[in-house]
Amino acid sequence: MTIALSFWESVKPEDLFQAIADEENRRHVVKVMKTLSVDPVWTKQIIEAVEAGRIETRCFISWLARELRPSRYLEVGVRRGFSMAMVASRVREVEIYGFDLWKPDYAGVANLGPKFVQSEMEKIGYIKRVHFFSGDSHRTLPAFFGSKRATLWDRLKANRRFKRRTSFSMITIDGDHSLLGAYQDLLDTMPYCEIGGVIVFDDIAPDYSKLDPEAVKVERGNDPYGWGDLLGVWRAIKERFRNFRYFEYTKDPPGVGLAIRLL
Ligand SMILES: C[S@@+](CC[C@H](N)C(=O)[O-])C[C@H]1O[C@@H](n2cnc3c(N)ncnc32)[C@H](O)[C@@H]1O
Repeated sequence: MTIALSFWESVKPEDLFQAIADEENRRHVVKVMKTLSVDPVWTKQIIEAVEAGRIETRCFISWLARELRPSRYLEVGVRRGFSMAMVASRVREVEIYGFDLWKPDYAGVANLGPKFVQSEMEKIGYIKRVHFFSGDSHRTLPAFFGSKRATLWDRLKANRRFKRRTSFSMITIDGDHSLLGAYQDLLDTMPYCEIGGVIVFDDIAPDYSKLDPEAVKVERGNDPYGWGDLLGVWRAIKERFRNFRYFEYTKDPPGVGLAIRLL
């Protein structure tokens, strides 16, 4: 880990966000996005936003990977591997663990799965095998971490692949966008973040003017605690895990939460 805890304890959010917006980082994000296959929905939008100087999720992940040089990266919600590619392009030797249900036609585009994502990573020069865990994260994460919530069979299957539970220096949560589901993914992964490691939480401030309100309501699902949206989920997590320092970037969509483990 190459960022001192004293930095995380003292840095002002606006200084951190300015560092993330640095030119090398934005150029790197654009270069990687241009190397990956074109996603008819998102590629152009992301490139235009970053070229216009806005910082979106991929900028956070690229900067964090450049500075932290994670040895192990876990991502819930991989889709075409945009975020994963930011890490893989920065740190060739990183071990990557990708969890996805591969929901068909996610965001109106075919969700092509592990083989496609592996070939995308190879395009940007990552030659290791990504460890993929296909299925609902509310089953695959507990099985992977050996939680008692997983069925014995799921745990046994996971143990055949990985004997020991492990910790991660970078984790991105961008899978299930229901309020309870996203909260659960955070609960399941945050205890495995290393001290000095970081959790990235996507979509805390989406551009609602571009979204169908009915679809947003369906996606959020039940809200028994009155969280309202993913920013509310993030704030509930803040209360729950006091051993992290939290940052919220809500100026540009989709909005990103960062949590750095201090203790
Ligand atoms: C927003 S996309 C991820 C985008 C990706 N992080 C990137 O940077 O390009 C969300 C992904 O989460 C997956 N997903 C949704 N619900 C899930 C669940 N319960 N378990 C695992 N994956 C899920 C979808 O299949 C989809 O591929």
